[in-house]
Amino acid sequence: MEDFTQFLVVFSMAAAVGVLSTVFVLTWVLHFKEGLGWDGGLAEFNWHPVLMVIGFVSLQGLAIIIYRLPWTWHCSKLTMKFIHAGLNLLAFILAVVSVVAVFDFHNGAKIPNMYSLHSWLGIGAVVMYCLQLVLGVGMYLIPLAPISWKVAFMPFHVYSGLFLFTSVIAVSLMGITEKLIFGLKDPKYKDSPPEAIFVNFLGVFLVVFGVLILWIATRTSWKRPSEQIPHTLHTNGEGEEDTAKVVPPLSEQVEEIAVLEADVELSAEIRRRNNKLDTEDN
Ligand code: HEM
Ligand code: HEM
Repeated sequence: MEDFTQFLVVFSMAAAVGVLSTVFVLTWVLHFKEGLGWDGGLAEFNWHPVLMVIGFVSLQGLAIIIYRLPWTWHCSKLTMKFIHAGLNLLAFILAVVSVVAVFDFHNGAKIPNMYSLHSWLGIGAVVMYCLQLVLGVGMYLIPLAPISWKVAFMPFHVYSGLFLFTSVIAVSLMGITEKLIFGLKDPKYKDSPPEAIFVNFLGVFLVVFGVLILWIATRTSWKRPSEQIPHTLHTNGEGEEDTAKVVPPLSEQVEEIAVLEADVELSAEIRRRNNKLDTEDN
């Protein structure tokens, strides 16, 4: 991997901020608020921010960059797809439980449902996430979709995944602000009590986490090696350029290769062609 140290620094910072966000949201509800419970009251509401921050933000962030971790590159692409899909599924389940908690609390306290912009955008994100999950499984896990569909769909999958992740952070910031305004009575939010300052920091951590995850997920040089032009097409196996081995038709299909390599059939085909080239060369 190029710039491994840089990757390690950014990844460690993202991990640290992710853990900090989890610690802060737990401290908020356990120390400053009513704790956690499933009693239809405020303790049940508190599951909402906890599960959203841990599940929908942190786990989703990890799921997004899971293919980029160099220490997973010895694992097969199929294994990584299962981990990526599994983490996203877990994030979705936690988000649904979190929404159930707030609906249950609202119904018990006779508070109307779905009146705020936060709730509209939030429920929108949960529904779109579910769609992304179903389409992801349909396209990349069940071996039914033609390769041309997989290729055509991948840019949309990546774009909507990154858009959803960003939206979820924005929606969380709205929820945090709402809760601080509703919950802090004496002293009020505008009087900056310790809880307000503490939770403002939680919001800042979520933004920094988002910035770092998006940075990692958009560095082309940090992709799994198999997603770039196959190494053997560029080098003579010892890291030296060997232009004689570059095959124009394949190099014209770089973008296709990026997605198709997810497919076992294609990996086999690339290996077969490379072997043929090697034999011709020797
Ligand atoms: C309510 C979604 C994060 C605070 C809601 C509701 C939804 C929702 C759908 C409406 C429930 C109902 O009407 O009964 C989300 C999503 C989040 C998220 C998808 C993460 C991406 C947060 C966070 C907080 C929070 C981190 C911080 C405390 C609230 C509050 C309400 C609420 C105070 C009740 C008031 C309202 O309906 O706007 N949320 N939420 N939310 N959420 Fe969130
Ligand atoms: C790649 C998001 C579900 C398969 C990606 C990327 C994002 C993303 C942002 C780009 C990662 C990168 O460039 O390193 C999501 C979200 C999902 C989801 C938010 C759930 C809501 C799924 C599912 C599958 C899947 C269920 C099925 C296996 C893939 C594949 C890639 C990918 C094959 C290409 C990885 C590569 O570039 O090597 N996903 N995804 N995704 N995702 Fe998903």
